Amino acid sequence: MLRRSLSRAFPLLSNGLLQTLPLPFAPSTRSLRSLSSRTSPQTVNPSPSQEEESHENLRDSSRPAVSISIDRSGLHNSAEHSHNQSSDSELVKHLKSIIKFRGGPISVAEYMEEVLTNPHSGFYINRDVFGAGGDFITSPEVSQMFGEMIGVWTMCLWEQIGQPEKVNLIELGPGRGTLMADLLRGSSKFMNFKKSLHIHMVECSPTLQKLQYSALKCVDETMNEDGSTKRTISMLSGSPVSWHSTLEQVPLGCQTIIIAHEFFDALPVHQFQKSSRGWCEKMIDVSEDSLNFRFVLSPMPTPATLLYLRKRCQWASAEEVVKLDHIEVCPKAMELTHQIAKRISSDGGGALIIDYGKNGIISDSYRLAIRKHKFVNILDNPGSADLSAYVDFASIRHSAEEVSEHISVHGPITQSQFLGYLGINLRVEALLQNCTEEQAESLRTGYWQLVGDGEAPFWEGPDDQTPIGMGNRYLAMAIVNKKQGVPVPFE
Ligand SMILES: C[S@@+](CC[C@H](N)C(=O)[O-])C[C@H]1O[C@@H](n2cnc3c(N)ncnc32)[C@H](O)[C@@H]1O
Repeated sequence: MLRRSLSRAFPLLSNGLLQTLPLPFAPSTRSLRSLSSRTSPQTVNPSPSQEEESHENLRDSSRPAVSISIDRSGLHNSAEHSHNQSSDSELVKHLKSIIKFRGGPISVAEYMEEVLTNPHSGFYINRDVFGAGGDFITSPEVSQMFGEMIGVWTMCLWEQIGQPEKVNLIELGPGRGTLMADLLRGSSKFMNFKKSLHIHMVECSPTLQKLQYSALKCVDETMNEDGSTKRTISMLSGSPVSWHSTLEQVPLGCQTIIIAHEFFDALPVHQFQKSSRGWCEKMIDVSEDSLNFRFVLSPMPTPATLLYLRKRCQWASAEEVVKLDHIEVCPKAMELTHQIAKRISSDGGGALIIDYGKNGIISDSYRLAIRKHKFVNILDNPGSADLSAYVDFASIRHSAEEVSEHISVHGPITQSQFLGYLGINLRVEALLQNCTEEQAESLRTGYWQLVGDGEAPFWEGPDDQTPIGMGNRYLAMAIVNKKQGVPVPFE
C-alpha cells in the first residue's frame, strides 16, 4: 500500500524506476565475497545501569570554572599486550607524547580522533580497511542494492525539490566509493537527474580518495588550452567530482543532497561516568611503567562534563538520565548537524543519515575495537583497529532543530523499513530474474544481511554462513528544508 502512495507522490517511482535500474545483473565482487567472509558489527550494546539517583544538576546551564586534576587509579589495565617501548608505532609514540607534554591524560574523544584520523598514521589514512581483506564490512560493500536504494531516495528528493538543473550531491565519508558508484550506475538512465549532479566527496583519507576516484571511474579533463584549469569527471554519470576534507569546504549556493552512511559513528565521543564524586569524565593515560595505555576517571567534572554532558541531558527527561551511570556525548556530531541544517536551510535540499544507533542517550557503546573482523581492546595497538560508537539520533534531531526553524527532521526508522518502503524487494526480485545460481545465492544473502533482524555478531561462528541482519540495528533519519514537505519514505 505504501508503495502505491509513494508512486502517486513521486512519478519517478511510478515510472518504474526500480524496474529500470540497470539489468542484466552485473555481480559486484563484494556481494560474492560477503558469502565467504565473516563480517562483524562495529559496536557492542550499551548496558544502562539501574542506579536511582537524581542528576538534575546536569540540566542546569550555569557553568562554574573547573581545573582538571586526575585520579591516576586506573579503571582498566590492558595487561595482555605489554610490550617494550621501542616497538611503539608512530601513533603510539604520538599519543604518549601528547599525554606526557600535557602533563595528564587525554579525553576518550581526543584519543578516538587521533587513532582514526591522525593525518600521518590514523586508522583510515593509509590503507583500505573495508571488506574481507580489511577489518569490517559495511552495507554498500554487502550488496549493490544498498547504493541503488540510496539512489532511489536521492532521485525522489531531487524530484521533490523541483528537479533543479544543478544539485550538489555530497557524500560524507564515502569509504571505497562503492555507495556513490552504485547510486550513479542505478540512476544512469535518468538523464536530467544525472546532468544536474555535482558530486562532492568529503573524505579525510588520501588512500580512500584514490579508491573513490577509481570506483567512480574518474578522468581528469583540461578545461582550457594552456591546461591550467582542470576538472575531474565521473565516467559513470558525466558529473564533475571534487574532494574535500570537511563539509565546510563544499561551496554553498545551490540545492544540496547530503548522504552520510556510517560517518557519524566515526566521530569522536566523550565518555562520562557517574561516581561518588558526581559525573566525571573517562580519560586515557599511560600506565605507571609507560608501556601501555589505561583508562582513568577524572576526579571532578571536566569542562566537557559541564559543557557537553549538561547540554545533552537538557534534551533528555530526568527519568532517562537517572537510570544511567555511563553517558556518551558526541559534540562533533552536534557541530556537523548544525552545519548540515544551516546549509539545507539556506540552499534547500536534504540530508540522509544512516548508522547504527538509538533514538536516545547512548550509555556505553564505545568499549571494543574491531581488527580483522574480530573484537579487540580499544587500547591495544591504536591505529590498527576501527573505533566507532553508537549514534545518538535524538541528539542529531535536537542539534538540527536548535539552529534552524526552516528544516524538519524525520525518523529515525529502521534500515529494514527504509529499504523496504523504497522497494528493495522489487529490486531483488528483478535481479533474481537474470543471474546465475551463485549470484542468486549472493543476492539473497546480501538482501537478508541488509534488511534482516538480529543481534551482533552477524555471523555466529567461523564456519556458520547464516547471516543475521543489520535491518533493525541500523537507523535512517532525514533532515530536509521544510519547503519541500516530508521526504520519501518518512511520511
Ligand atoms: C565507517 S567508514 C564508512 C564508509 C562508507 N560510508 C561505507 O559505508 O562503506 C567512515 C568513512 O568516513 C571517513 N572519515 C572518518 N572520519 C572522518 C573525518 N573526520 N573527516 C572526513 N572523513 C572521515 C573515513 O575515512 C571513511 O571513509
